[in-house]
Amino acid sequence: MTRLSIAAALLCAASPLAAATVSSPDGRITVTVETDGEGIPFYEVALGGKPLIGKSVIAFNFTDEDPLRRGLKVEGEAVSPMVDAKWEQPWGERRFVTDRHNELAVTFLQDATKRRFTVRFRVFDNGVGFRSEFPSRADHPKTSIAEELTEFEIAQKGTAWWIQAGDFNRYEQIYQKTPTDAVSMAHTPMTIRLEDGTHLSFHEAALVDYSGMWLQRLTGQRFRAHLSPSSRGPKVVRTGAFTTPWRSIRIAKDAAGLVENDLELNLNEPNKLGDVSWFKPAKYIGIWWGMISGKWSWAQGPNHGATTERTKQYIDFAAKNGFRGVLVEGWDYGWDGNWFGNGRDFSFTKPYPDFDLPALAAYAKKKGVHLIGHNETGGNIAVYEAQLADAMKQNARYGIDVVKTGYVADAGGIISCNADIADPCGGQVMEWHDGQRQVQHHLRVVEEAARNRIAINPHEPVKDTGLRRTYPNWVAREGARGQEYNAWAPFNNPPSHEPTLVYTRMLSGPMDYTPGVLSVTGGNGVPMASTVAKQLGLYLALYSPIQMAADFIESLAEHPKELEFIKAVPADWAESHLIAGEVGEYAIFARKDRNSADWYVGGINDATAREVTLRFHFLDAGKAYKATIWKDGEGATYLTEARHRIAYDSRTIRKGDTLTLWLAPGGGAAVRLQPGK
Ligand code: NOJ
Ligand code: CA
Repeated sequence: MTRLSIAAALLCAASPLAAATVSSPDGRITVTVETDGEGIPFYEVALGGKPLIGKSVIAFNFTDEDPLRRGLKVEGEAVSPMVDAKWEQPWGERRFVTDRHNELAVTFLQDATKRRFTVRFRVFDNGVGFRSEFPSRADHPKTSIAEELTEFEIAQKGTAWWIQAGDFNRYEQIYQKTPTDAVSMAHTPMTIRLEDGTHLSFHEAALVDYSGMWLQRLTGQRFRAHLSPSSRGPKVVRTGAFTTPWRSIRIAKDAAGLVENDLELNLNEPNKLGDVSWFKPAKYIGIWWGMISGKWSWAQGPNHGATTERTKQYIDFAAKNGFRGVLVEGWDYGWDGNWFGNGRDFSFTKPYPDFDLPALAAYAKKKGVHLIGHNETGGNIAVYEAQLADAMKQNARYGIDVVKTGYVADAGGIISCNADIADPCGGQVMEWHDGQRQVQHHLRVVEEAARNRIAINPHEPVKDTGLRRTYPNWVAREGARGQEYNAWAPFNNPPSHEPTLVYTRMLSGPMDYTPGVLSVTGGNGVPMASTVAKQLGLYLALYSPIQMAADFIESLAEHPKELEFIKAVPADWAESHLIAGEVGEYAIFARKDRNSADWYVGGINDATAREVTLRFHFLDAGKAYKATIWKDGEGATYLTEARHRIAYDSRTIRKGDTLTLWLAPGGGAAVRLQPGK
């Protein structure tokens, strides 16, 4: 903000009716905040002088007090000096993140009740975040929010990519592409391309001790927050002073600007864990695809997957091929019978008799490999919380420093305990996957894990809201329809699914999609809507610091050339750039290894064959790079057995050179660039 506009903003404080404004450091985005004739607080966002978000209300309903909606006035404004900072990620898509923003805090007072709240805006060159802040009140220490009424009135028509909120299948859905004015109730992030080409993403940051925000379309392009429900009635209950999560809007001129955007990370608090160098970004294999595809079972019996002998084979394979981790699912008691949405019988410490945990931990250690733990809860968080401390202690004892958790239950079917009754876990109640209780639960798990130097990767999670900045042991999540769906029915994840994830789900943070099914085949031989090359491109398109090679080890071994790529590709980057792509169509990234001078280029395609010409402007000048190329073979297509056709190439590439790649329907590509070779 310039001195002139700071002066203008301060001047506004003198008059309660005047609007407060704050602009992005480059001056292109401007937020205006005021109250209307009825005393209803609202904000507007303009981009390049044109309305982007029209008049949108910020207000709250409570279960035991009058709404904070009408009869408010601006009591004060505070403008903070511009922040222009850079901070370092312990791991991630890029090492350094730039945080450049201006800040304005506006306090509203409701005269009739003498209650107030402050709305804090941070305006970046590529987005806006704002949150509401409530002071503590001696006369009313507990605040019970019935609904947050924050609105987003999108000024232009556009196309939206979104998934349904409040549905049984949580976030595991195929994205819908509709006009913005045909969305019903959406999860965030929700991506919108306006008619003038501006790209927007609506999401939230720092979702802590609050309920997840869904976006409900009211009329036209007007959306309103709809908080995930709670079994208690009020959707959020807080004691003392508290803030809502940040409501965030990424604003970009193109798809790349949406992807290369750290808005939510910047809105989160810095690292609270200190040195987390004990977490090693790495790749892993697992006793997993066998269960997902139906060949083996999690439960005991003749096809039990997690046997001592098989785990040793997987440890051997990992050691031989440089995989740090071996995930083993179905190792613990509780899988026999119906665990879906039940989970009462799960033990998180007691292995099945045919899984010799102490011996396997020792074997893994000898081979330089780490077992990856698995805690499926069936959605029963009461049972998990009761065992959490013991489970994490045991994991640490066995060298297990990454744990995948799971919450398989229909949305609304998380089994919690009712803290409001005398015997907390005597009365079990149902919660949503993203309600306040579950939000609290996930953080509890992450904190307990951190105390034991363990990283967490939840499946069926609460969506990511950038909390990996504050808790860098929260390394990945599922939180979308993963590769597992490809095991269950032909073409179950359509070719456009992953190129849509890049511009929607992935904007929230790393995903444990589990690429690397080189057989491109699911259970009972069902075909996947992917070429083999796309399975490699996924490592570059969908970021995670823990990347699985999900296939059976026999299948990985049958593809030695593809395995070479998987072995080489990093899970931690110095830089990441989307160099070609459109929402839902294709996505090609250039990423620089954090631990060497190598670059990797590649990505994924939807069902339309296309040629992309890539320009290597990012390479170091004066260096010759040896490019090793994995690409779709001639005539490859996901539609037929030609999905197995892959081709290899190599050449020398220098800064500024171009490379034209043909991407098959459902295809992909991967290129490794090594300097001086
Ligand atoms: C669903 C998860 O996404 C999957 O990875 C896991 O294997 C099963 N639940 C069982 O926990
Ligand atoms: Ca899942």
